[in-house]
Amino acid sequence: MALILGIESSCDETAAALVTSDGKVLAHRLAGQEEAHRPFGGVVPELAARAHVEMATPLVEGALADAGVTLADVDAIAATAGPGLIGGVMVGLITGKALAHAANKPLIAVNHLEGHALSPRLADRSLAFPYLLLLVSGGHCQLLLVRGVGDYRRLATTIDDAAGEAFDKTAKLLGLGFPGGPAVEAAARLGDAKAVPLPRPLAGSAEPHFSFAGLKSAVLRARDAAIYKPEDIAASFQQAVVDCLIDRTTRAIDIADGATALVVAGGVAANQAVRGALSGLAERSGLAFAAPPLWLCTDNGAMIAWAGAERFAAGMIDDMDVPARARWPLDPTAEKARGAGVKA
Ligand code: KG4
Ligand code: ZN
Repeated sequence: MALILGIESSCDETAAALVTSDGKVLAHRLAGQEEAHRPFGGVVPELAARAHVEMATPLVEGALADAGVTLADVDAIAATAGPGLIGGVMVGLITGKALAHAANKPLIAVNHLEGHALSPRLADRSLAFPYLLLLVSGGHCQLLLVRGVGDYRRLATTIDDAAGEAFDKTAKLLGLGFPGGPAVEAAARLGDAKAVPLPRPLAGSAEPHFSFAGLKSAVLRARDAAIYKPEDIAASFQQAVVDCLIDRTTRAIDIADGATALVVAGGVAANQAVRGALSGLAERSGLAFAAPPLWLCTDNGAMIAWAGAERFAAGMIDDMDVPARARWPLDPTAEKARGAGVKA
């Protein structure tokens, strides 16, 4: 059995965790930065990087103490090496490199998206490859066929905004606060999802790509019409996102060769309406359904430690000169989605 230390710092969460190769989370610590970014209504990269510098070492020390182990007991050190806000990624990766160098341990550079993609296997050790993954976070919205560790085929991506980004922008437009996803979900619970007519971008189109920019513009128009309650806009928006995710995932199920399970991961997977709708789709499609517990959906260190454990078991170790990357696709062979802007 191997013990892996994982470090995450790609966005606005600094996190460290200790996870064993048989899937036990011995410790996980996390420091959010909501207070620092709230006045700006979104993540400020420079503020995020500084907070990661302050928090990375204390969180690693805290996690080691919680687990009752020292660095000498660890078999490998896994750190997020991208994609993400480059300042933060560099802080976490350099912390991992320094610890690996000092303790003479192997370093594993983890793709943050692989952390999300494999997190359902930490939650459910019986989940086998290949599975169809809907990865919905603040930075990404993709459908992937997860064939094995390090082996991903991207079936679809967003041609503009990510789903989580749409939640965050809607929250900002409606004055619901930051972070946006949980705020919109809470407001939506009090509203009528049929009250505001909103579009379902790309619904019915042949390729399973996503688009959310038009939905955001429609939310802006609905707000400016000044005839709808914010809760009704929030509920109608959330329903539109759910409908888009279901329509596009239904299309992907047709082309996901060999998948026996539908899996959702990433921050937006914490949304109960999203989880419920996908679980229903899986059932109708004869697929098993898996979604990590909520704390494992949003960014955390355990998913990075777990991806590290899976890579370590496969002998995938990295050199000390492995770079930090702002962009790092899981499937380098995937073509750009037609109509896509720079984000895809
Ligand atoms: O995976 P994550 O923590 O960070 C990225 O890798 O992006 O995802 C963060 C995103 C944010 O956009 C946040 O608003 C969204 O996930 N999110 C939610 C919920 N909780 C977090 N969106 C909808 N409903 C939620 N309950
Ligand atoms: Zn993430």
